[in-house]
This record gives sequence, structure tokens and C-alpha cells, in this order.
Amino acid sequence: MQFDVGAIILFLMPPYVANAVPVIFGGKIPIDFGINAWDGKRLLGDGKTWRGLFVGIVGGVLVGYAEAALTGNSVFAFLALLTSCGAMLGDILGSFIKRRLNYERGRPSLFMDQLLFIIMALILGYPILAQVMPGVLALESIGVILVVTYVMHRVMNIIANRLGLKKVPW
Ligand code: CTP
Ligand code: MG
Repeated sequence: MQFDVGAIILFLMPPYVANAVPVIFGGKIPIDFGINAWDGKRLLGDGKTWRGLFVGIVGGVLVGYAEAALTGNSVFAFLALLTSCGAMLGDILGSFIKRRLNYERGRPSLFMDQLLFIIMALILGYPILAQVMPGVLALESIGVILVVTYVMHRVMNIIANRLGLKKVPW
């Protein structure tokens, strides 16, 4: 069995941090600069800012550096760059889809909020994961990743809400 908890944690930490940091350090200027799409709704909405994108990627890469230092394998820094960019891409894609579905900013969507970011992290990280941690790509690992990510995302957002960082607990 390919199941390797350590490898899964090493994979998950950078995109988790990339996804969480913008909630604390997000900025004001929206990535879509306030423009509307063809349907008259915002392209992405005010919840996706340039500063959030930037601090998310930097935060995730810093975790990757820590992992590289801890394991003595610099590939984790590069993997973190890919998976952090993937997480932010998935987050942006989720908002894009939510706006097209007429969801106002902040309205929860199981797939778009909780899972798309980690799916995109898996996709962008795939070339490196296949090389250095193929066990993470095993079907049972991906199942665990999706379940754990859903639970973690719910718990972290409830905490962020209690701390006053987020208006809504999702
Ligand atoms: N955030 C940011 N920049 C990003 C991503 C997130 O500034 N690229 C900040 C915003 O303050 C945002 C918060 O993190 O409100 C929470 O992110 P998220 O839940 O993804 O955004 P929502 O406000 O819920 O908007 P959406 O409905 O588009 O998901
Ligand atoms: Mg949200």
C-alpha cells in the first residue's frame, strides 16, 4: 500500500497556508480591478485581491523552504511554489465559477471553496509529485486528501470567524 502520511502532510502544508494567509493579509485592489464579465456580474469579485494572491504564494513558498530545510531536499521548495500557485489558481477559478452561477461574494459552495484549491494544487504539483512522492497520487491518498481538506477548511474557517477575521464561518 502506497499510503504515506508524512508525504501527504508535506504536500498539503504549502497549499493550506497559501489558501489561509490571504484571509489575514488580504488587500483592497481586486484582481479583476472591479470589472464585470459578459453576464454583467463581477469577473471574480472583491474577495480576490492582488495582495491576497501575492501573500498566499509567498506564504506557501516559505513553508516549502521550511520543508526543504527540514528534509534536506530542496525539491520541496519548488513543489511548494507549484502547489501554492495551484491553490491560488483554484481559489480564483472557484470565484470565477461562483460569479457565473450568480453566487454573491462569500456565499459558500462545497466544491468551489473547499476542494477546487487542493485539486488545482494536485494538478500543478503533479509532475514533481509523480517523481518524488508518487504515493500522494494513489487513489486512496487522494481520497484522504479530499476528506481531510474538507474538514480542515471547515474547522479553520469557523476559527477565523470566531477570531473576527471572517464575517462568515465558511
Ligand atoms: N482574499 C484575498 N485575496 C485572495 C483570496 C482571498 O484578499 N486572492 C481574502 C479576502 O478578504 C476574502 C478572504 O480572503 O474575503 C476569504 O477568501 P474566500 O473565502 O476565498 O473569498 P470570499 O470573500 O468568500 O469570496 P468568494 O465568494 O469569491 O469565494
Ligand atoms: Mg469564501
